[in-house]
Amino acid sequence: MKNIFEKMKSSIAVVTTSEGDRINGCTVAWFSRVSIEPALIMVSIAPERLTADMILKTGRFGVNILSETQLDIAKLFGFKKGRDTNKFENTPYHINDGLPVIDDTSVYIGCELYSIHKAGDHILFIGEIKTTESSDKKPLIYDRKDFLK
Ligand SMILES: Cc1cc2nc3c(=O)[nH]c(=O)nc-3n(C[C@H](O)[C@H](O)[C@H](O)COP(=O)(O)O)c2cc1C
Repeated sequence: MKNIFEKMKSSIAVVTTSEGDRINGCTVAWFSRVSIEPALIMVSIAPERLTADMILKTGRFGVNILSETQLDIAKLFGFKKGRDTNKFENTPYHINDGLPVIDDTSVYIGCELYSIHKAGDHILFIGEIKTTESSDKKPLIYDRKDFLK
């Protein structure tokens, strides 16, 4: 199945969350457009991730589509766990409407949770777009060989 999924090329995003004083995020390759009216997007996150917990508690999340120079950020947010590490310690970011936004991404999309769907070993979080920040930076495209440890 891995070989099949590899053919579904996508950009890479960091989904960011905020709950009280805590901010966190995780890398996702599994995300997509869903609807124009209302404007909806979807991220697929496994329930054991801290990021999934925080979205379920707060009902909000941000999608930071990384730019092509941000492979290190994709690895940091994709290999480290928020339960053990503050991934934002050395990551430049700012706050938009209460959610952390990684600096210098290709696009940022701030969402309110629209619906949740349990799907196999992941949860589909559908978000309604509330805020955006865009740039002319090209997105980082997922290539598995970039992530081999
Ligand atoms: C390139 C890449 C893509 C990933 N895509 C996803 C994804 O789409 N959904 C998911 O649940 N985890 C995905 N992960 C794994 C999470 O980013 C990883 O488990 C992370 O450490 C979870 O962090 P958290 O526990 O702080 O939320 C991906 C990891 C990498 C390196």
